[in-house]
Amino acid sequence: MTDTIRGWTRSCRCAEVTNEMIGEKLTLMGWCHKHRDLGSLIFITLRDRSGEVQLVFDEGSPEETREKAFTVRSEYVLAARGTLRKRSSVNPDMKTGELELCVEELRVLSTAKTPPFYIEDDAGANEALRLKYRYLDLRRPPMQENLLLRHRVTLLTREFFDQEGFLEIETPLLIKSTPEGARDYLVPSRIFNGRFFALPQSPQLFKQLLMLAGYDRYLQIARCFRDEDLRADRQPEFTQIDLELAFVDQEDIMAINEKFLARIFSEIKGFDLKLPLPRLTWREAMTRFGSDKPDLRFGLEICDLSDLVADSDFMVFTSALDAGGSVRAITVPEGSSLSRKQIDSLGEYVKTYRAKGLAWLVPAPEPRGSFLKFTTPELINNFAERCQAGPDDLILIIADKDNDTVLTALGELRLEVARRLDLIPAGEWQALWVTEFPLFEYDDENQRLVAVHHPFTSPLEEDLALLETAPEQVRAQAYDIVLNGVELGGGSIRIHDQELQKRMFKLLGLGPEVVEERFGFLLEAFQYGVPPHGGIAYGLDRMVMLLAEQSSIREVIAFPKVQNSSCLLTSAPSAVDERQLEELGLILRDLPLIELDGVEQTGIE
Ligand code: AMO
Ligand code: AMP
Repeated sequence: MTDTIRGWTRSCRCAEVTNEMIGEKLTLMGWCHKHRDLGSLIFITLRDRSGEVQLVFDEGSPEETREKAFTVRSEYVLAARGTLRKRSSVNPDMKTGELELCVEELRVLSTAKTPPFYIEDDAGANEALRLKYRYLDLRRPPMQENLLLRHRVTLLTREFFDQEGFLEIETPLLIKSTPEGARDYLVPSRIFNGRFFALPQSPQLFKQLLMLAGYDRYLQIARCFRDEDLRADRQPEFTQIDLELAFVDQEDIMAINEKFLARIFSEIKGFDLKLPLPRLTWREAMTRFGSDKPDLRFGLEICDLSDLVADSDFMVFTSALDAGGSVRAITVPEGSSLSRKQIDSLGEYVKTYRAKGLAWLVPAPEPRGSFLKFTTPELINNFAERCQAGPDDLILIIADKDNDTVLTALGELRLEVARRLDLIPAGEWQALWVTEFPLFEYDDENQRLVAVHHPFTSPLEEDLALLETAPEQVRAQAYDIVLNGVELGGGSIRIHDQELQKRMFKLLGLGPEVVEERFGFLLEAFQYGVPPHGGIAYGLDRMVMLLAEQSSIREVIAFPKVQNSSCLLTSAPSAVDERQLEELGLILRDLPLIELDGVEQTGIE
């Protein structure tokens, strides 16, 4: 039998006791963190989300209370009444280490099984176990800090945008399926059997409709759902800080967002983000860093060697050039200390990004490299000069007939080298805008153009003439905000002209019937007076992950999914009753039900 509170009121949280309260009679409640029985003395560390405090049961405590204290085990929920006093032996590692509660009355509010891992800073458990018992994991101080930080970020966000005149407006979660981008999660309708709602991938169309409706500054902390393959920074359901503004251009949107980020950084990290933030066009980011989300905390920029090798004897280089490709490199400072084995393993690494090989060169003091027999001292000097490589620097070179392969493989190599050689400074924050993304990309599999951002993104005015003739060269009024190599947010100026929107749909291969069926409501709305508008959405989970200096967004989400999109805690998704299916007019194909359980399926890296 466990006790009830029966009229006891908690005086404060455990770690909120202060020296000023010494001598007061207090009632504290929480979990038994540690229990030490020294015969005549029993110590219990009582814990809640504020921290810990020591309870002591000594000769002064009534016999009945001591007997009760004796039965307490880890994670029992307790209520203790007693007098706060100064501790004889101070614990400097504890916030309340100078104080203890000398307990007169104890109530055991709940008993507990022994938890499967330690409720400590380091649980010493694998992540699958932590997620199965997430409610215990969330008792751990690092998780509490993460969730507290998340709370502070959302609060600050609301406060900031409220002051800037934004209205928070909720948009529906049961919406029409308009598949573009990721796969939709579908919800079958009971009333209209055979019809489905989709869960929103983002509030995109609704926030545009709100602009049309006159709510010229919109904010929402919005849940989004995307049925896509997961990674450390991707979840099937995640949260956006979603914004839309009317009567603005790209500069206005960037300015207010920079101010927002600076505010977040100064409040949360005490860090002074220098404004305006640097900007790179997408083309420049790709050429210099091989990435549309470059990490600017370190150098290792890519340089182009193509013109230097045009007449070289090395077929790997010349054949790449002849086929319209390029030869490019990054330079690793003091990289000559890398062993052959280490360089070979980098060669293997770039192959996973479709590079066919990795050539290397240490130009000085004594030239060494993988293709020396095809080079001349002059070429080596030219390479060193172009790459600004000093003695003992290592030049890593990729040639390919496909320029994008050269750039993306070098971009990935750049990151990998920085990680392996520990070149990324801790505690540094490098944010930037990447602008002028291409409007379209070619989808080889389906042989059609797809929108890089989404079909409502406005092209750059000066590229409008290329829309039909060279669509892949058209740049978009789209921008991403990148922080330490992570895509934090992205947005665009929207098309607010019906005719242009129709041209876009046509280029995307969407026929008039499909457009009418999927987006008819939007085109109809656009006939009733649309202000120029644009917006942006941040991944809140990613933002908090970075601010909390974590490497996975699962660490900042209370109840995340694992890589196969299942929930280890509740075992969702689950099978449903035959009756539920019937109501929805669904008949399942006779497939075996896939087991969710098992660590091998959790896919946690
Ligand atoms: P976009 O698709 O770029 O834009 O998404 C905006 C930001 O949301 C975050 N994000 C994710 N975070 C966690 N898990 C995911 N699966 C995931 N997918 C995206 C990223 C990303 O930068 N409606 C547009 C925005 C706009 O144009 O205003 C949109 O959703 O941090
Ligand atoms: P091989 O002639 O295949 O022995 O290659 C000689 C050197 O060129 C090796 O260091 C290879 O890794 C490198 N190499 C091969 N293909 C490429 C490529 N596409 N780009 C850069 N280096 C390459």
